[in-house]
Amino acid sequence: MSPSLWSSAATVAVLALAGLQFPPAAAGASVGSVSPPPSGACAGKFAFESAELTDAALADIGAKDSTNAPLLSFGDDISDSDSDSDSAARPPSGPACKVFPGDAAWPSTQAWNLFNTSLGGALIKTVPLAAPCYDNWPQVRNAAQCQYVTDHWADPHLHVGDPSSTQWPLFEGRTCLPTDDPTQNCTLGGYAAYSVAVTKVSQIQLALNFARNTNVRLVVKNTGHDFADKSIGAGALSIWTHKLKDLNFFSDYRCKGYKGPAFQLGAGVETEEVYRAAELSGVTAVGGECRTVGIAGGYIAGGGHSPMSTLVGMGADQVISLQVVLPNGKLVTASEDSYPDLYWALRGGGGSTYGVVTSVVVKAYPKIPVTTMTFSFLTGPNVTLDTFWAGVGAYMSHFDRFTSAGAYGYFLVVGIGPGQYLFNFMPFWGGNMTAPQLTTLVAPFLGDLAGLGIAVTPNITEYSSYYQAFNGSFGPEQVGASVGHAGSRLFPRDNFAVPAKRAATLAAVRYAIEAGGTLVGYNIRPAANAAVNQANSVNPAWRDATGFFILGGPSLPVTATDAEIANAAHTMTTDWLKRWRDVSPGSGAYMSEGDINEPDFQQAFYGSYYPRLYALKKKYDPTGLFYAPTAVGSEDWYITGQIPYYPTQNGKLCRKP
Ligand SMILES: *[C@@H]1O[C@H](CO)[C@@H](O)[C@H](O)[C@H]1NC(C)=O
Ligand SMILES: *[C@@H]1O[C@H](CO)[C@@H](O)[C@H](O)[C@H]1NC(C)=O
Ligand SMILES: *[C@@H]1O[C@H](CO)[C@@H](O)[C@H](O)[C@H]1NC(C)=O
Ligand SMILES: *[C@@H]1O[C@H](CO)[C@@H](O)[C@H](O)[C@H]1NC(C)=O
Ligand SMILES: *[C@@H]1O[C@H](CO)[C@@H](O)[C@H](O)[C@H]1NC(C)=O
Ligand SMILES: *[C@@H]1O[C@H](CO)[C@@H](O)[C@H](O)[C@H]1NC(C)=O
Repeated sequence: MSPSLWSSAATVAVLALAGLQFPPAAAGASVGSVSPPPSGACAGKFAFESAELTDAALADIGAKDSTNAPLLSFGDDISDSDSDSDSAARPPSGPACKVFPGDAAWPSTQAWNLFNTSLGGALIKTVPLAAPCYDNWPQVRNAAQCQYVTDHWADPHLHVGDPSSTQWPLFEGRTCLPTDDPTQNCTLGGYAAYSVAVTKVSQIQLALNFARNTNVRLVVKNTGHDFADKSIGAGALSIWTHKLKDLNFFSDYRCKGYKGPAFQLGAGVETEEVYRAAELSGVTAVGGECRTVGIAGGYIAGGGHSPMSTLVGMGADQVISLQVVLPNGKLVTASEDSYPDLYWALRGGGGSTYGVVTSVVVKAYPKIPVTTMTFSFLTGPNVTLDTFWAGVGAYMSHFDRFTSAGAYGYFLVVGIGPGQYLFNFMPFWGGNMTAPQLTTLVAPFLGDLAGLGIAVTPNITEYSSYYQAFNGSFGPEQVGASVGHAGSRLFPRDNFAVPAKRAATLAAVRYAIEAGGTLVGYNIRPAANAAVNQANSVNPAWRDATGFFILGGPSLPVTATDAEIANAAHTMTTDWLKRWRDVSPGSGAYMSEGDINEPDFQQAFYGSYYPRLYALKKKYDPTGLFYAPTAVGSEDWYITGQIPYYPTQNGKLCRKP
């Protein structure tokens, strides 16, 4: 989903949703080539993964510059065993802070040059995307380019295609937004200092080795979709995986115990590209509803929810194997029988934590029909505010029945004027359902609404495939909002199935929306699925959830000050979301669409798995190479100069004493 849904301007767009015609896929988005299925055996590596860094290559580099060549050497070996219990729960040791541009210990120009040479020239010195708008970037200042960036700022492809930009620049620090005032000061803020435009795995290995050996902060950027801006950091070296677009389809994949259709996806392949490949191959893939989300990147790392989840489970549940470069620079396979502890942790335990995933093999499903239903209702002459909320409550009373039938619901509840509220399906989704099946399923719910005097006009549309329904239902997401901030909560089945709990849940939701928040709701329950390995680190709170609710914070003008942003975030975390937490004790929230200020994030985002995930973090990343806000182990670090409740990434990254 897109946080722009909670800006008031976007509400108008949502109202117009039913009539909106979505343009075809953006030009330039490559639909991965679908290769003929190779016969038998587990998938081999992609060509870009076979180009591994070798000791011979390192020796060649040493011959060029023996002073700096050690900066590119591998780290210590880590054994392939499942014994993480011996990893003491201790904070990483090392220098107090990561080195920062201007520090005496910052790598020399010669060191960066050698690094760049070893990369084959793939090192980019970062220029903020909107720098052409500013006089203080004379080397790139360009009115036409500024206009282009300004016009396309809300298009995610602009940010996906840039080595350092993020889709929501709030935690970047808003230091270089598009502007028509060129005299302002554009700075790097939270954007990385350097980025490696990766096209082969050896470049990832070199970047990890260089960052580890020089103590430069490391970030990993794929599409930059994460709400907490996990892919940026001031003074960092960024590994940019966007160009890893390889895609293979296997109609009959056979590997160890697995038999059936599967996709092998490079890290840079985006959701829509996988969906289109699945359509061309006559199968269904599991992914999110936002088109540019990177499936093999943060999506699977965070767990990954999907319109398919109520039928087949989470995105992370579909993973058969992963290729991952470890913090020591070595490429390994993680699967049921190779690094099984990593195989567990990489499927739900969070991004930018244990290594850089370069590709995944995921299960695919036969083609299914999908039937969607859209309608909206509003407060008005016949619908009082209490009746409106009773209508929302009526929907909640059917949540368990809907997900048990395999349906999924995606909906919006938002204030659209003083005392006026809108409920809108975006849409109600019947995966593997025909129109008659969906009509029968929703009849009692529509009867409840009619009984309340809420008149609706359902539009029920049957599609022949998942892709057709996706393309007909989910528009290209709008990004670039620089003040919006969101949090979320996973609500267990009982919150809707037990009347008293449902009333308390509805009251907590109503409070936040009437105070000015926006609800982007999902009626979703990850199905148990014996055909895949669901013994992974997906937040256990997901397994019992029947509702996943994202809350957009108070609407703020783009001119909001840092203090106003912090104040709004404080209200959301300590009042609005507190009420959501209070009615769902012991549950959790979704890390990839979470509140960066989530209290006790370890429990909320990882639940009971946190201690094991933390031990694995120490085992695989003993030097603390990887860091991201709210990632496993991030509590051992802090960023200098942060404003409470507005934690930007533009200070120095330092170890807590
Ligand atoms: C996606 O939907 C748009 C508008 O509804 C349509 O023009 C386009 O042809 C569709 N794309 C495909 C591949 O079906
Ligand atoms: C890296 O090398 C390439 C090719 O020589 C060059 O174009 C690029 O500017 C260099 N990057 C940096 C950061 O110096
Ligand atoms: C621009 O910002 C940088 C970093 O905060 C600061 O050092 C510099 O003085 C500023 N320049 C102007 C002209 O304000
Ligand atoms: C309100 O209810 C009346 C009586 O049932 C009906 O005639 C009218 O169309 C309704 N108005 C709206 C806006 O639904
Ligand atoms: C779709 O329904 C068919 C027929 O009931 C069933 O065999 C198939 O497993 C279902 N597919 C999914 C993905 O749920
Ligand atoms: C119903 O929804 C479909 C899919 O969005 C759309 O093509 C159609 O025009 C809608 N029908 C009406 C009557 O609005």
